[in-house]
Formats: sequence, C-alpha cells, structure tokens
Amino acid sequence: MNFQLSEEHEMIRKMVRDFANNEVAPTAEERDEEERFDREIFDKMAELGLTGIPWPEEYGGIGSDYLAYCIAVEELSRVCASTGVTLSAHTSLAGWPVYTFGTEEQKQKYLRPMAEGTKIGAYGLTEPQSGSDAGGMKTNAKEDGDHYILNGSKIFITNGGIADIYIVFAVTDPDSKHKGTTAFIVEKDFEGFSVGKKEKKLGIRSSPTTEIIFDNCRVPKENMLGELGQGFKIAMQTLDGGRNGIAAQAVGIAQGALDASVNYAKEREQFGKPISANQGISFKLADMATSIEASRLLTYQAAWLESNKLSYSKESAMAKLMAGDTAMKVTVEAVQVFGGYGYTKDYPVERFMRDAKITQIYEGTQEIQRLVISRMVTK
Ligand code: CAA
Repeated sequence: MNFQLSEEHEMIRKMVRDFANNEVAPTAEERDEEERFDREIFDKMAELGLTGIPWPEEYGGIGSDYLAYCIAVEELSRVCASTGVTLSAHTSLAGWPVYTFGTEEQKQKYLRPMAEGTKIGAYGLTEPQSGSDAGGMKTNAKEDGDHYILNGSKIFITNGGIADIYIVFAVTDPDSKHKGTTAFIVEKDFEGFSVGKKEKKLGIRSSPTTEIIFDNCRVPKENMLGELGQGFKIAMQTLDGGRNGIAAQAVGIAQGALDASVNYAKEREQFGKPISANQGISFKLADMATSIEASRLLTYQAAWLESNKLSYSKESAMAKLMAGDTAMKVTVEAVQVFGGYGYTKDYPVERFMRDAKITQIYEGTQEIQRLVISRMVTK
C-alpha cells in the first residue's frame, strides 16, 4: 500500500493551488458578497485543462483520473467553495454520465466542449416535491415523432443559468417507478427550456443555483442518454461519483479554515503569549487537523477506487458523510479560534462556515448517505 501521491497528482495539486491562490482567492469574498459567478475564472480553469481532468484526450480532456479531479476540487475549495462546486457539478454530474452512457456522437457533441471548457454542464434531478426521494419526480417526457416533449420543473440546479448543457431526468412511464425514468441531454437553447428563480443562499453564493423549467420542451430523440427506462440508475450512479467531488470540496473548505486558524492562533496574542500556546486552542487545532486527514483519506480512497474501476458507492457515501460533517465542525471551530473577529467579514472563516453547511445537504443529505451505507453494510 502506498499513501504517497504520484508525481502527476502532486503536479496537479501545485498547479491548482497556485491558480487558486493567485486567480480565485483575491475575489472570493467580493463574489460571495455580490453573489456573482465569474466566467473568466472558469475560462482560465479551461485553459489549464481543469474542466476535463478525467476525460481522455480524444474527448477533449487531459486523460488524468478521478483522484486528480478530487485534488483540484479540494484546492479550489480551500479558497473558494463556489468555484469548487462549479467544477464538481460540471465534471461529475454532467461530464461523467455523458462519458459513461453517451454514444460516440453524444461524447463528441457534448462531452468534448465540456471537457474543453467552452460549454458548462449541469444536472437536473431534484424537484419541488422530490428531493431525497429522487424516484418521486414528476417531470415527464412524452414521445412525439422524432422528439420527446418534456414538461415540469427542476430546482436547486447548481450551474443553473450559466450552463449550456443539462443532464435531465424525466418520467417516460409513470406506471413503473424507477424503471420508468429516462435521462436526456438538454441544451439551453432548446425550445421550451427556460431558467427560473435564482436562489439567494447562505453559502456558496458565487455558484448560481436556479430552477429550470420545461414547458413543452422539445428534445430530439438522439439526445436520450442511455436507454429508455435507465434514467434512475444513471442518476444514482452519477451521484456516486458526484459525492466524491463534494467530499473533496468539504475537505478543501475544512483545510482552508484550518490554515487560517493556525496562522491566526500563532499571531494573536492574549495574556502575553500567542493563543496557540494555550491547550484550549492548540488541542482544537489538533482535532481539526486529525478529522481533516481522516476525511481526506476516505475521499482519496473513493476516488482511487473509481479511477481503478472498482466499486465505490459505499466508499463515496462514507467520504461525503465524514468530510461534510468535518467541514461543518472544523469551520465552526475556526470561527471560535478567531473569537469576535471570526464573526466578522474581515476574515474568511465566517464564509467557510456558511459554505460548509451545504456539503451536509446536497448530492444526498447526510441522512441519505447513512441510508446508502447502511443498506450496503447490511445487505
Ligand atoms: N447505482 C446503481 N443502481 C442503483 C444505485 C446506485 N448507486 N442506487 C440505487 N440503484 C438502483 C437499485 O439497484 C434499484 O434497481 P432495481 O430496481 O433494478 O433493483 C433501483 O435503483 C431503485 O433503488 P432503490 O430501491 O434503492 O431506490 P429508492 O427509491 O429507495 O432511493 C435513494 C434510493 C438512495 C434514497 C435515492 O433516492 C437517493 O440517492 N436519494 C438522494 C437524492 C440525491 O442525492 N439528490 C441530490 C440531488 S443532485 C444535487 O444535489 C446536485 C447539486 O446541487 C450539486
């Protein structure tokens, strides 16, 4: 067993860390305040090849693996969790299902521009009445000659409004629940597609989250992804990998909060010495560092399993469960280390704390992760 990252992984980490520090961090606070997505940052990520890390070069990617992708999401999230999730949803939730289930034409038409970063991807599963019970969706697709006609709406869409390509799940046979769902690739310019309400959020505020609406949306039959009735499984398998990305985001947020806390604790003096000299603070830092390391190991293990084509559903749920809870706990502690200053916008830890919360909610709540894990350990 070798816990050392390869030279390629270390190189990607260094490249993304430099990029994150120089190009992402300087505007993170301002973008959070203004709830502003910055396309220029995405374009720069594309120039560096970050928008297609795990995809082969023949589809516009850089031919690396899921571990490298998780390292990239982690490093971005260390300074800006919004940028981290933009890349995560784009890669895991939109690129992955096209790479895995798409036809050669679909890969060339949709995966390639996503990998090259000229187009942004998103994923539409959740509806107002079906969140954790993803199989309860109501958006439907009816056959009409060469097209399917989609009606309904999806909510909480990460990259909503900025994406060009949406992977959408709709009911094609209402009588057979899970086997009556089909996946489609929907372009933003398709007739009958529109973007609805943009959410105002607690955290990840420079990552847009919107509703998307299908009003007799005409989707050509060749845009069916996978087979008729295969949609629920595609949605679930996509989320398995997506959860690795969110675990990596959570590790990055927690690491960013720990880095800030360590620096502050070494500089801030009270009672004539740095506060890091007090066990009340230094033991906190020790616990934070330990939880982060455990979360990182679970995350890298799940990404490694995926890269090596081994089963990873349980491990990615475990990684997201552990890392999401770690991000929340560590960021709350980081605010505590900073005391009153931590509660202000003068330091980034309050943003990290707000950003951490979503990692316990999206791509399956922590309760759903426990459901997935418990079903697998008891089966
Ligand atoms: N891989 C392959 N197949 C799977 C699977 C997986 N991971 N999980 C389930 N399936 C299959 C099952 O084997 C079963 O197939 P058969 O009918 O052939 O036996 C079928 O799917 C139905 O499975 P279940 O009976 O387990 O389905 P369920 O209705 O009980 O739901 C669930 C399972 C785990 C609770 C699922 O609904 C779920 O994951 N819910 C959470 C949804 C979620 O994560 N939403 C996040 C939205 S996206 C998001 O958040 C994006 C963002 O903003 C960044």
